[in-house]
Amino acid sequence: MPEIPAVSRRLLLGGALATGALAAGVGTAQAAPVMQAGAVPAPMPRRRPGQKSMIDVPYESHGTVRVGVIGLGNRGSGMTEGWSVVPGCTVTAVCDIRADRARRTADRLVATGKPRPAEYGGSDESFAQMLERDDIDLVYIATPWEFHYPQGKAAMLAGKHVIVELPIATEIDELWDLVDTSERTRRHLMLAENCSYGRNELAMLKMAHEGLFGDITNGHGGYLHDLRELLFSDTYYTDAWRRLWHTRSTASFYAMHGLAPVAAAMDINRGDRMAVLRATATEPKGLADYRERFMPRSHPSWKETYVNGDLVTCLIDTAKGRVIRAEHDVSSPRPYSRINSLAGSRGIFEDYAGVMSTSGGRIYVEPDHGGHSWRAFDAYRKEFDHWLWRKIGDDAANNGGHGGMDYVLQWRTVQLMRAGLVPDIDVYDSAAWCSPVPLSVKSLAAGGRPVEIPDFTRGSWVNLRMGLDSRASEMPPVA
Ligand SMILES: NC(=O)c1ccc[n+]([C@@H]2O[C@H](COP(=O)([O-])OP(=O)(O)OC[C@H]3O[C@@H](n4cnc5c(N)ncnc54)[C@H](O)[C@@H]3O)[C@@H](O)[C@H]2O)c1
Repeated sequence: MPEIPAVSRRLLLGGALATGALAAGVGTAQAAPVMQAGAVPAPMPRRRPGQKSMIDVPYESHGTVRVGVIGLGNRGSGMTEGWSVVPGCTVTAVCDIRADRARRTADRLVATGKPRPAEYGGSDESFAQMLERDDIDLVYIATPWEFHYPQGKAAMLAGKHVIVELPIATEIDELWDLVDTSERTRRHLMLAENCSYGRNELAMLKMAHEGLFGDITNGHGGYLHDLRELLFSDTYYTDAWRRLWHTRSTASFYAMHGLAPVAAAMDINRGDRMAVLRATATEPKGLADYRERFMPRSHPSWKETYVNGDLVTCLIDTAKGRVIRAEHDVSSPRPYSRINSLAGSRGIFEDYAGVMSTSGGRIYVEPDHGGHSWRAFDAYRKEFDHWLWRKIGDDAANNGGHGGMDYVLQWRTVQLMRAGLVPDIDVYDSAAWCSPVPLSVKSLAAGGRPVEIPDFTRGSWVNLRMGLDSRASEMPPVA
């Protein structure tokens, strides 16, 4: 295998290698999106006077990053402890509509030797009071999906940068509004897409950008997680908020964990873009079947009707003619997978290949391999390990959930803010990756017709630039 240069061959060659730009002529800003006849169009709202792109805009340097957290359930409470152990980061305020959760989280931080954060809670407007503080640089939002858009927007209007759990919003006009609010307020808003910082995902990105797969032609990712037991638990999701989404519409609610790494490897918004989406959905069977077998007739879930298809698949055409298949299924019995697969003219990678393992992976690339048989990924993962994992992989293993990728996301976000660097994931990536939520609804309502995906960059997607494939850099020393 070739030795990896510090800067990827893709950037040295102006992107020609991985993006197929030599053949397609991209990089010259003339590439036209492939629009399908009959596709439902996606209007592009105009920028207001004074509103400017946030692409390549660095964070201002922060000596310490002061975090305010909204939503202290399963995810938010664990991530709060994660923020508190990143060098140069401190949690100054915590908020939950349930005041006891703010108290519990504050107590836990104090028990681990951290300063006590200010507590907010008691009403669904408590977060707005927290946002009035002037000692918060970054707001982290881990509330149910319906609150992400209003809370993310309010945080930017209050002058804070924002990191929001998946999805940042669930409607197209809300996604545009978050882009526009970011451009007007000059605050960054990013999706907390931890899986994009997964070790295999970042190795896949590096292999793609080094040209190992030749011209990338297709990718496949998703979120296939049997959540039935948790969805029907009375103690896990607060007020059953996540199950209730399955009573509202058929949508690809949460495919971003598998879609985003494939999109990053394809340079989406950095030389290519997601242009058209078509959705299919199977019948909603899984949740009703589970309820029938395991839930007593007195359970409140018996008043509900589940309409979300078990397997929702989005086929996404990119402007440069690639295809992404993004899947979502949380209501069928099956082992966990984010699929995480990428293929091109010289080879293919598939994650989740082992029988028991979630981190196995298999590969087949020419000229290294032949004979139509898969090879183990281990040696490639070592060779193409991203600098972030080489640098902080041991810390991540000790500190973080989800195999360490939560810590890598948090460490990197704090590093970018402290060092005054450009975000790896910006508001345009976040909006594009979340757009299949409403667009799958739209496509399915139109009988599976193709729908155009908005260009949230307003034309800047043609320019090659770095993202998750960042250059190695140091965390500034803590004073
Ligand atoms: N990236 C990941 O790996 C990952 C993993 C799990 C969950 N998540 C995401 O995290 C978010 C939270 O999920 P969860 O499992 O922690 O749910 P949860 O029900 O355990 O927690 C949600 C919390 O938000 C609070 N809340 C509700 N409305 C509020 C409001 N208006 N203001 C303040 N607090 C409010 C609730 O009281 C609760 O404590 C979801 O968006 C979910 O998709 C992401």
